[in-house]
Amino acid sequence: MSTISSSLVFANRTQNIAAFEVMELVKRASALQAQGKPVIHMSIGEPDFTAPEPVLKALHEATTKGLTQYTPALGITPLRQAISRYYGERFNADVAPSRIIITAGASAALSLASAALVNPGDRVLMTDPSYPCNRHFVAAFDGIADAIKVGAESRFQMTSNLIDQHWTKTENGSVNHARGALLATPANPTGTSIPFAELQKIIENIRGRNGFSIVDEIYLGLSYHEKPRSILEVASDVVVTNSFSKFFHMTGWRLGWLVVPENAVNVFERLTQNLYICASALAQHAAVACFTPESMATFDSRVLLFKERRDYLLPELKKLGFEIPAEPDGAFYFYLDCQKLSDNSTDLANKLLNEAYVSMVPGTDFGMNEPNRYMRLSYATDINLLKEAVARMRRFFSA
Ligand SMILES: Cc1ncc(COP(=O)(O)O)c(C=O)c1O
Repeated sequence: MSTISSSLVFANRTQNIAAFEVMELVKRASALQAQGKPVIHMSIGEPDFTAPEPVLKALHEATTKGLTQYTPALGITPLRQAISRYYGERFNADVAPSRIIITAGASAALSLASAALVNPGDRVLMTDPSYPCNRHFVAAFDGIADAIKVGAESRFQMTSNLIDQHWTKTENGSVNHARGALLATPANPTGTSIPFAELQKIIENIRGRNGFSIVDEIYLGLSYHEKPRSILEVASDVVVTNSFSKFFHMTGWRLGWLVVPENAVNVFERLTQNLYICASALAQHAAVACFTPESMATFDSRVLLFKERRDYLLPELKKLGFEIPAEPDGAFYFYLDCQKLSDNSTDLANKLLNEAYVSMVPGTDFGMNEPNRYMRLSYATDINLLKEAVARMRRFFSA
């Protein structure tokens, strides 16, 4: 039997979409582990916990009842209502269920937001460093991710001043205004938040320029402030993305959501219908049980565990020689300045993986802003393993 092979000619946009390096690194770490090496994973942003008992029970019930058909594109009503109540009770934000769209993770939410808002050639402001996929969501719709270099002075976050400085560019005599901004608070890879007053200022600034604001609140539940605040408390014209992956520890369930302005629901519904049909039916039915008091108590107790890990690591990492230019106040990341230890974070990450079996991500995954100087450590790992990782790094650096 003969096979006909032909080479595919890819769309130009594929050249603007780089590999998600952390996933490659995880592959290498897992390969070492498969060879029997005792790898400690501090690379991937994936909680080491799983869904609590009520969610597993609800999943079992949904499976038994055969609730596996397509759901409405916007998601099942009980889940949309539960998320609406969650905003009211936790964040003092009045978000009607009709504005909530259930998606396959924040990834689908961010893709849908880009599909809805970004025209070819549109410039979208974001920070450098930032979550690597952000620039690729924009590139997937032929937009231009304009990643603004940020540092310790703004805790690696966006500010209203930066919006002023970068909104309008004059290129070859023509004026180019940005179309919008993609913000994340708390952020990946730094774990830092935008102070709420500054966030409001940014949103007002962008509103005044008729631009769009997408605010990724995926780590809002994992915020170490006493009372984390959602931008939805004060603004109903922003697009907010969130997910069951982080605070709810359900990464592989592929479930998240979008909150959009009431008058945008129809556009997002059409896009969702066509691009995804709906998010996983079983995951949606099970996720309703995330909002029971029992599940919420479990999630809240795990936030305290993440905070305990952060508090343990902060002095230990400094003692090892890492600098922490902006101490994290959320998520489960440290963005470490390793210039005192190495002039190349990729080399250091490779050596730590191969020699100490400790896996961390070099700054190269997060942008072009001095990537060789920084590394991201994810503490979504048991505290005893973190202690062992610190001990191994101590031995590695003193060898
Ligand atoms: C800032 C940020 N946004 C979005 C995502 C995507 O999350 P998911 O698609 O699992 O909900 C991640 C995952 O790490 C993230 O860190």
